[in-house]
Amino acid sequence: MTMTTSFLIAILILSVSTVQGADYDFPPAPSPGSTVQGGHYNDFPPGPSPSAQPNPKDFQNMKQFLAYLVIQRFKRTITYDPLNITGTWVGTSICDNDDINTYRGFFCDTPPNTTDLTVASIDFNGFHLGAPTLDGFINGFPDLALFHANSNNFGGTVPNLLGLQYLYELDFSNNKLSGLFPTNVVPLSGLAFLDLRFNFFQGPVPPPIFLIGYEALFLNNNFFNSSIPANLGSSPVEYLTFANNRFTGPIPVSICNTSSTLLEVLFLNNKLSGCLPYEIGYLRDITVFDAGLNKLTGHIPLSFGCLSNVQELNLAQNYLYGEVPEVVCQLARTGNLVNLSLSDNFFTALGANCWDLIHNNVLDVRWNCIPGLPHQRPLKECAWFLSLPKLCPLVPYMPCEANPGRQNTTCYNDWASHFDHNPPMPPLPPHASFNQLRKGKAN
Ligand SMILES: *[C@@H]1O[C@H](CO)[C@@H](O)[C@H](O)[C@H]1NC(C)=O
Ligand SMILES: *[C@@H]1O[C@H](CO)[C@@H](O)[C@H](O)[C@H]1NC(C)=O
Ligand SMILES: *[C@@H]1O[C@H](CO)[C@@H](O)[C@H](O)[C@H]1NC(C)=O
Ligand SMILES: *[C@@H]1O[C@H](CO)[C@@H](O)[C@H](O)[C@H]1NC(C)=O
Ligand SMILES: *[C@@H]1O[C@H](CO)[C@@H](O)[C@H](O)[C@H]1NC(C)=O
Ligand SMILES: *[C@@H]1O[C@H](CO)[C@@H](O)[C@H](O)[C@H]1NC(C)=O
Repeated sequence: MTMTTSFLIAILILSVSTVQGADYDFPPAPSPGSTVQGGHYNDFPPGPSPSAQPNPKDFQNMKQFLAYLVIQRFKRTITYDPLNITGTWVGTSICDNDDINTYRGFFCDTPPNTTDLTVASIDFNGFHLGAPTLDGFINGFPDLALFHANSNNFGGTVPNLLGLQYLYELDFSNNKLSGLFPTNVVPLSGLAFLDLRFNFFQGPVPPPIFLIGYEALFLNNNFFNSSIPANLGSSPVEYLTFANNRFTGPIPVSICNTSSTLLEVLFLNNKLSGCLPYEIGYLRDITVFDAGLNKLTGHIPLSFGCLSNVQELNLAQNYLYGEVPEVVCQLARTGNLVNLSLSDNFFTALGANCWDLIHNNVLDVRWNCIPGLPHQRPLKECAWFLSLPKLCPLVPYMPCEANPGRQNTTCYNDWASHFDHNPPMPPLPPHASFNQLRKGKAN
């Protein structure tokens, strides 16, 4: 085995063991105590005094000496350390990976083309460390392959990481990072996993993010406010989350081109608009599709009946209308569908086999306009919505129809040319006004 391969394999093992715990799920909310604002300044003894400063001879190699300097400098900026992690960042044995009480969070390996053992991954998950910035720290480890910092209190912006040629997993989730999307990670072509969840990033998301070989791209719970770049379909990831931001505009029709890779996508709670694209029906492997709480409109395209692997399909709290297609409800019998959430829309009818799903608690169609069902919208709301122009056509095309069970993977663009996917929106009132109406009715 070459050194390069063993390096990458060792990193992969560490990576798998740390990512599994997260299960591609939301990280826990920050605990109330873990705040920097409390002014919990570190009382722990600082590193060796300048006079006791070790020199390169005390270390296994020069790389470790340089890593030592970076770690000690970072240690002096730590503002919060409830688990006394930095108490273990002492001495010259940086790479004693067997001793968990030595340099906790740092793991060493031998990078390609050298025999020097050095810091190859940093895993601070759950350490609750606070520091005003990571600049000068992460980018101080030229051989770094992994940086995991879930649930800490790191602030500032993401430093320029372009010099880190081996970096392939970057997890900043649940911190206090801010600024624009860190474009300094975009050209890191080796990066497989980027997790920015639960931070304070804002502004637009640049199109090149979808050109990179990420396994997972987690952007949820930030303040991104652009449209979702039209080249979404170029993304090779399996897990994609846009949830809980301020994204606007339509779901890009190019999503069809992710059909052989995408397993879960969360658009939940943004300001997405336009017709629900029938191209979503190409996502033959998708298990979770969640576009609830947006401003999407139109019919549910019949192509959704091709989502044979989907378990959770959430389209609740949008402006969808028409009939809930029979072919979609059928997925509960012929496919894997267990949760079809369509509440708070403007559907007016249900496909014949949809009624049973209500009784089985698979289908939620409360707060729609379906005659004969309890818990529907007031007539006034339904009449108002019915009077608006409907600009999205019902697309009957089903990519799996000719070949049932085997999804057609070639994105077929003929339908796309037939209509405008993002017609101008009718003047829809915000959801709040519906609640107002409901309250008025209840009183
Ligand atoms: C932190 O850990 C170091 C090293 O184990 C120890 O010497 C020190 O007393 C600890 N500090 C606190 C406040 O527990
Ligand atoms: C390692 O050395 C080989 C052969 O000299 C070279 O082709 C390769 O680019 C080097 N890799 C790195 C990461 O420096
Ligand atoms: C998006 O957010 C940025 C930064 O907060 C702001 O300057 C910009 O005006 C916002 N753009 C839109 C379209 O809301
Ligand atoms: C999907 O990818 C193909 C080949 O890369 C491209 O020609 C096509 O335009 C893409 N479709 C969409 C809807 O973007
Ligand atoms: C179904 O999904 C909706 C939306 O994601 C969720 O709120 C609801 O709790 C789920 N229902 C069940 C029974 O899991
Ligand atoms: C996929 O759909 C296209 C367009 O309808 C069709 O020409 C092609 O034969 C289909 N392929 C399969 C394998 O069904």
